Amino acid sequence: MIDGKKVLFSGMQATGNLTLGNYLGALKNWVELSDEYMCFYCVVDEHSITVRQDPATLRKRARALYTLYVAAGLNPEKNCIYYQSHVSGHAELAWILNCFTYMGEMNRMTQFKDKSAKHADNINVGLFAYPVLMAADILLYQTDVVPVGVDQKQHLEITRDIAERFNNIYGDVFTIPDAYYGQVGAKIMSLQDPLHKMSKSDENPNASIYLTDSPDDVMRKCKKAVTDSLGQIAYSEDQPGVRNLLDIYSACTGKTPQEAVKEFDGQGYGQLKMAVGEAVNAVLLPLQSEMARLTKEKDYIDQMIKENAEKATYYSLKTLRKVQHKIGFPDRIR
Ligand code: TYM
Repeated sequence: MIDGKKVLFSGMQATGNLTLGNYLGALKNWVELSDEYMCFYCVVDEHSITVRQDPATLRKRARALYTLYVAAGLNPEKNCIYYQSHVSGHAELAWILNCFTYMGEMNRMTQFKDKSAKHADNINVGLFAYPVLMAADILLYQTDVVPVGVDQKQHLEITRDIAERFNNIYGDVFTIPDAYYGQVGAKIMSLQDPLHKMSKSDENPNASIYLTDSPDDVMRKCKKAVTDSLGQIAYSEDQPGVRNLLDIYSACTGKTPQEAVKEFDGQGYGQLKMAVGEAVNAVLLPLQSEMARLTKEKDYIDQMIKENAEKATYYSLKTLRKVQHKIGFPDRIR
């Protein structure tokens, strides 16, 4: 608890081009929850370097992601929005938690398996220990709730396991966090292969809607979306392409998938795709124009980056010092 409020933590990688999946699965829920909790929203640039990055591009993307958080409606004067690399406690706690995490546990992480297959020439220790840094992010602020898409489920479970293991040895040090998944949109699928999630690293540009896409691009990608030959609009596991379009439509309009199915009763896939494209554009256009406006507010964003790094450091140190004491590191002399 901070100032009588429960704590929320979440983050996104400053890598690649953010997709509609990132927005609907995470960012949108962050905004909806932000009044209720004391929120920490992190640009996780340290996670990004588990895959080789061009320095100038990483810096630019991190800044754009920071601005996007604000453009999406997160108030940086109320919510603590900051860069992971500005708060050294993340890496310090990650080191400690590494010593409480087993190789076997990390070996089972599906994201590690996927990423090491994709980057076979650079299977580094950071990529392997990635979930421990994520656990450190979360546990550093005594987080109660972590809004994420379902692809992060395994990482949330390991975070809880590490925290419980630590607490069993040293007493109640960490709050055990719960994951929060949105009602709809927690797993937006690829438009070209609806059995796989929409991902910023997909090589097929038609598979993902990017948050920077123009209205024409969005319409074109929706029109090209893979469906099936059944010709009926139903919300069913047997029709993953149609189901995904209904999910996107619902998440963008605030309707339930069942309401959406009723709305499209008797219509064809062409009409559904058009409506989805329009619903997506209704979400993206205001986001893009707010992004353009805020990008020019350089001094304001700089100020927020500075203040929030200090704020996050303050709260992170409370946990870090406690952990360091518990494990037997010598206390600082004041
Ligand atoms: P990242 O950067 O891959 O994704 C950011 C958020 O977007 C969600 N997401 C999706 N949701 C629905 N459908 C999709 N197709 C989709 N694709 C991505 C993700 O679930 C995530 O919530 N490891 C994390 C970043 C991280 C983090 C943390 C998150 C680092 N530390 C601590 C929470 C708490 C990641 O790579 O997310």
